[in-house]
Amino acid sequence: ELKENTVIIVLGASGDLAKKKTFPALFGLYRNGYLPKDVKIVGYARTKMDDAEYHKRITSYIKNKDDEEIAPKLAEFIGFSSYISGGYEDDESFQNLNKHIESFEANYQTKEKNRLFYLALPPSVFIPVSAHLKKNCHIKDGVNRIIIEKPFGKDRESCATLLSSIKANWHEDETFRIDHYLGKEMVKNLLVLRFANVAMSAGWDKNSISNVQITFKEPFGTEGRGGYFDEFGIIRDILQNHLLQVLSILTMERPVSFAAEDIRDEKVKVLRCIPPIEREDALLGQYVAANGKPGYLDDDTVPHNSVCPTYAATTLWINNPRWEGVPFILKAGKALNEAKVEIRIQYKDVTQGIFKDISRNELVLRIQPSEAVYLKLNTKMPGLITRAIPTEMDLTYKRRFAEAVIPEAYEALILDALKGDHSNFVRDDELDAAWKIFTPILHWIEGRHGPSPRPVPYPYGSRGPKELEAFINKYGFKRTTEG
Ligand code: BG6
Repeated sequence: ELKENTVIIVLGASGDLAKKKTFPALFGLYRNGYLPKDVKIVGYARTKMDDAEYHKRITSYIKNKDDEEIAPKLAEFIGFSSYISGGYEDDESFQNLNKHIESFEANYQTKEKNRLFYLALPPSVFIPVSAHLKKNCHIKDGVNRIIIEKPFGKDRESCATLLSSIKANWHEDETFRIDHYLGKEMVKNLLVLRFANVAMSAGWDKNSISNVQITFKEPFGTEGRGGYFDEFGIIRDILQNHLLQVLSILTMERPVSFAAEDIRDEKVKVLRCIPPIEREDALLGQYVAANGKPGYLDDDTVPHNSVCPTYAATTLWINNPRWEGVPFILKAGKALNEAKVEIRIQYKDVTQGIFKDISRNELVLRIQPSEAVYLKLNTKMPGLITRAIPTEMDLTYKRRFAEAVIPEAYEALILDALKGDHSNFVRDDELDAAWKIFTPILHWIEGRHGPSPRPVPYPYGSRGPKELEAFINKYGFKRTTEG
């Protein structure tokens, strides 16, 4: 349930994340009646501006703002949004912020007070800001919550340092670590699909499944974000967090209940069964100029000799009785031919005998765009002769749930945080287990143990490195034969 008397404070209110995700999500929630009654939203950042200028800015972040239905709601939203500027490293600024919040709380009819701090900030200020918030803005007689977002460090060690510094001030119960893939509709569907269907849970193991691919494709490069990206690379940007989170829910055992800790316990357990990635289980790529688009190294914000991968395929193994020997290929790339995120579960060959060269079954869960679940099956071609052809059982959301409005990931997650539900947030031990899997390969790529591996080139707008086909075939993937 939503608590009355809530103030939401967005720190980094003039930054990119706030603009693209936080404010649109807050407005989306308000518009649909999901923000607490009498909520106040406070923006905080270094930029000096008055409320009028700030209101103009947040208005510009909202899509279709002139629509008949949206405009009046937006006016109301602006009405309870205010701004205050201040630094990230000094007490005085945070004391001012606290006074600003108190000015709203003074009007409450009941004693209850709730503060939700959303850190839409660069990682360099996570530690000082969380400490200053605790010191100056954390209320004794109320609920305090803090939302933070990746990057959570750069490897296992730096993550541990970051976590312990934040923990020195914020209790695990108060802390919400976002991985926005956990807010996506199809990812949330995994729990239901897997555990509410006997037809799915039967055969969900090494006896039936040959290999699994979890794929992230983006059709644009690092345009404008080269500086950030080069320090992190595609593995830290996508695989270690988003794709690994998807993998953990896909492969965990059934949780005891829907309670957050029960779910997260199972995720941690399966992650801890995955050994660190071996070098031979990785394929690294970097895009080069093609189709009139610049290469990664043509970006002025990227060092001219950078070996940072913009594409990576890595194969993970889960050493438990359910999954032993099944390769899980996580692959992600920038500047590819399309935008697509999907899970592809390929079943084993049917026992040979009555059929030869028959396609394997595949269960595909398309996370975006256009959410869908489809199962590739062999069916008898209708007619007088018996011939099996591959076909699909198709649950495309747009057709099946034509009226449904699929929420944005950030809307779902902010709502969860307002309710105090941690199920779709990342616990500290999950992060540690995730970094443990990826840290050795990241250190190798960074040249800590000798020369860095050179990523293979792939053209902007292509399907990825040409070496990919051989890479996935090595793990037993077989392409469907058509008809
Ligand atoms: C972010 C990455 O976490 O996720 C970006 O930093 C990436 O590089 C983005 O573009 C993808 O998110 P979505 O929701 O568009 O798939």
